[in-house]
Amino acid sequence: MFEILATIFWLIIKASWLMLPAYIANPTAVVFGGGTPIDLGKKWKDGRRIFGDGKTFRGLLGGTGCGVVIGLIQLLVTFLQFLGTFSLVVIITLSFGALLGDMIKSFFKRRLGYERGAKFPLVDQLDFVAGAWILTYLFDPAWFRNNFLSDPWMMVTVILFTPLLHRLTNIIGYYARLKKEPW
Ligand code: CTP
Ligand code: MG
Repeated sequence: MFEILATIFWLIIKASWLMLPAYIANPTAVVFGGGTPIDLGKKWKDGRRIFGDGKTFRGLLGGTGCGVVIGLIQLLVTFLQFLGTFSLVVIITLSFGALLGDMIKSFFKRRLGYERGAKFPLVDQLDFVAGAWILTYLFDPAWFRNNFLSDPWMMVTVILFTPLLHRLTNIIGYYARLKKEPW
C-alpha cells in the first residue's frame, strides 16, 4: 500500500515537473489576458466569433512568455534534472502548444455554439495538455518519446492529475477575481 502511494506521489511530482511550462502558461494567460482578441472580433461563416473575446494577444504572449521563463529556470536548476531535462524547443512547444490547444478548443467551442466562458467539461481541462503534447511531439519527437510515450503511466498521471490541478487553479483564480467563472 505504502509503495503504491509512493509511486503515485513520484509520478505526480515528475509529471508536474515535465508539464510545468504548460501548467504555468495556461493560468498566466488569464492574468495577462485582455485587450485585442486574436480573431480581431471577426466572425466565422456561421456568424459566430472565430475564437471569441477569451483569446487575446496579451494572454497568448504573456502566457507563452511566462511558461518559457519557468522552462529556462528549469533548464538551469541542474540538481533537479533527475526529474527530466528540457531543451529550448521543448520549453517553447510546451508553453505555446498549451495555449494553441486552448485556442483551437475555443474555435470548436464557438462552432458548437458555446458562448465564451461556457463550461465544456474535460475538454476545458485537457485542451492545453493535448496542445502541449502534440506540438512537442511534432518538434521534438525524441523528447516526447523518452518522457511520455515510453512511460504510459506518466501520461495517465498527467491526464488524471491535470483536471484536478486545473479545477483548483481556476477556483483560486475566481476568488482572486482574475477569472469570471470558477472552471
Ligand atoms: N485568456 C486570454 N488569451 C488566451 C487565453 C486566455 O486572454 N490565449 C484570458 C481571457 O481573459 C479568458 C481567460 O483568460 O477569458 C480564461 O481563459 P479560458 O477559460 O481559456 O477562456 P474562456 O473565457 O473560458 O473562453 P472559451 O469559452 O473560449 O474557452
Ligand atoms: Mg474557460
